[in-house]
Amino acid sequence: MWLDSHCHVSAEGFDDDRDEVMARAREAGVETMIAIGSGYGVEGSRAAVELARERDDVFATAGVHPHDADQLDDAGRAQLRAWLAEPRVVAVGECGLDYHYMNSPRDSQRQVFAEQVALARELDLPVSIHVRGDGPEAYDELLEIWIAEGAGEVSGVLHCYTGTRDFAHRALDHGFDVSFSGIVTFKTAADLREVARSLPLDRLLVETDAPFLAPQGHRGRRNEPAWVTVVGETLATLHGVRAEEIAARTTANARRFYRLPSVEGGA
Ligand code: NI
Repeated sequence: MWLDSHCHVSAEGFDDDRDEVMARAREAGVETMIAIGSGYGVEGSRAAVELARERDDVFATAGVHPHDADQLDDAGRAQLRAWLAEPRVVAVGECGLDYHYMNSPRDSQRQVFAEQVALARELDLPVSIHVRGDGPEAYDELLEIWIAEGAGEVSGVLHCYTGTRDFAHRALDHGFDVSFSGIVTFKTAADLREVARSLPLDRLLVETDAPFLAPQGHRGRRNEPAWVTVVGETLATLHGVRAEEIAARTTANARRFYRLPSVEGGA
């Protein structure tokens, strides 16, 4: 069975047919989805939290995306704490640094990421991390903040990894897990596939990041959790193992990372 470790199924792009999308995920063998709350404004986590309350196969995260960092105020901070106190809200995030789009100024991105790492440490929750930049700055600064605010006491996953092989291995040394999305399936992503091949299977997660980044064979369409299998099949080819093994191992890794309650017959 598969686990989509990062998707935005609570986003409004799924409002018209969410039940059908979830049913297709289940048919494809996706037993659990992590609905990432952030990325749709500071209030965006509300929909993810509500979906996780309603469905046994969904857990949520709550956080503030770097794009929205300059919108966070004290009311937003109080609301975030309230969401993170809920039992089916399993991580802080996604949060981090995005120096590619730069939708919020760097200073507020750094401040709001540091705050969320500190909050995760205080609440004993893992962190889903978004990092993107056109050079090394975003990655280097992310690691500096991580070390300053929580290294060793907080676990983090680098979601939708597209960075260098060197940084991925530095991140492993700092205890991060690494998650791959449909980007690793793109024809143009040979370098990223080499990064994925170089990482140990006990540190890898798979995700769709739906509705974004539909994998090869579905590109240009709205992505959905069922297609996490395409990401997993690519990792299977790279590591020379069967897709079932990638499913079992990435599901176990994600269940460990998000500390999900054990399930009967679970991977
Ligand atoms: Ni995302």
